[in-house]
Amino acid sequence: MKALEGVKILDMTHVQSGPTCTQLLAWFGADVIKVERPGVGDATRAQLRDIPDVDSLYFTMLNHNKRSVTVNPKTKTGKKIFTRLIEECDVLVENFAPGAIDRMGFSWENIQSINSRIIYASINGFGPGPYEECKVYENVAQCTGGAASTTGFLGGPPIVTGAQIGDSGTGLHLALGIVAALYQRETTGRGQRVTCAMQDGVLNLCRVKMRDQQRLEKGPLREYSQYGQGVPFGESTPRAGNDSGGGQPGWILKCRGWETDPDAYVYFITQAAVWGNICDLIGKSEWQDERGYASPEERLDKIPEIFEEIEKWTKTLGKLDVMRQCNRLNIPCGPILSMKELSIEESLKKTGTVVEVDHPTRGSYLSIGNPIKLSDSPSDVSRSPLLGEHTLEILRDLIGLSQEEIEEAVEEGGTGTEAATN
Ligand SMILES: CC(C)(COP(=O)(O)OP(=O)(O)OC[C@H]1O[C@@H](n2cnc3c(N)ncnc32)[C@H](O)[C@@H]1OP(=O)(O)O)[C@@H](O)C(=O)NCCC(=O)NCCS
Repeated sequence: MKALEGVKILDMTHVQSGPTCTQLLAWFGADVIKVERPGVGDATRAQLRDIPDVDSLYFTMLNHNKRSVTVNPKTKTGKKIFTRLIEECDVLVENFAPGAIDRMGFSWENIQSINSRIIYASINGFGPGPYEECKVYENVAQCTGGAASTTGFLGGPPIVTGAQIGDSGTGLHLALGIVAALYQRETTGRGQRVTCAMQDGVLNLCRVKMRDQQRLEKGPLREYSQYGQGVPFGESTPRAGNDSGGGQPGWILKCRGWETDPDAYVYFITQAAVWGNICDLIGKSEWQDERGYASPEERLDKIPEIFEEIEKWTKTLGKLDVMRQCNRLNIPCGPILSMKELSIEESLKKTGTVVEVDHPTRGSYLSIGNPIKLSDSPSDVSRSPLLGEHTLEILRDLIGLSQEEIEEAVEEGGTGTEAATN
């Protein structure tokens, strides 16, 4: 028995943000029925292909544990099928540009009149306001949600991050909204509308930068290294390079081999509580009692100099040795691990965070499993569905269409031809 067993999700999502959400729900045990356009499917099936004519890693890594049915709700038979699916399901999830589901003839009012218990969840680029009609992709959300303006080096241009905080981040937010709505339905008996805008999701993840915006209005941000460097602050939260977001100064430092290995670096935090250990480790024991170095306050204007000194030590060791030596002394630090290193990390494989999945047309590939571990509901990762793979079983067994009705829908293009063959 899985946490969300028995919950049926009508999954109209595509690309990354929506599929991230429904994949998580599937890993928690929900029956996720991915509705795709007949003959075409989710556009990512064909994007960034590494093997010709095979579902891309983009698609396979975001659509595990789902079933696929092809339906075109813009046709007469497709509308009938879609209506039956709304009747049967607990949640409808989508992330089309605004109004696409309405244009198919399914407004929220209409959906509620078909099934008052359904939860209708959407990801939009922006919430209501001047930009609500705009299409949004990952980096648009990063730029409009405050992440890009606060990422990068002082004096340099804004930078986007490799973490998909706009897409996958908003998918995570939406999944939580859906689970909360399912829980509330237990008492109200009613479904509800759940929305999450990508701009809002990114801004939520940039909460500490809004904190700093307000602190800045009261005075300089003393933990930012620009303070120690004597660079004046402007009106908004600045880009902080690799400064740490909390009160403990941190920076990325070179390790042995950095000249040829782009990932031979470590993130080093000069946590006040272990300052003595840091001084001993790098051979600067005298700093512990020296005026100007002994307290965090005194060190604020010397942060670049202190990191230069620490780097002399980190450059003598491999990044993992730095980590080992630091952790022995309770000093927090993080080696920069590359995707290659993460893909072969045995401990991640053991916990199911990195998994090998078999696929009938592409063979075996590496994926990332559920990072959220439930002791009573372990997540098994199964491959993504082929386009329309489960069409027949869904039309026949879930919504009870007769063979004749299925043939009529295939004929009209309401569903794909695989319905007749699978
Ligand atoms: C991601 C995005 C920019 C892609 O835009 P797009 O490729 O032009 O796709 P849209 O969402 O605008 O439109 C999809 C169209 O396909 C149609 N479609 C989708 N599924 C269909 C199906 N099963 N059968 C028939 N038509 C279908 C829709 O009806 C819509 O057509 P319409 O605009 O003529 O009404 C856009 O969907 C978006 O802004 N989404 C919200 C934010 C978001 O999630 N962005 C992140 C994506 S990772």
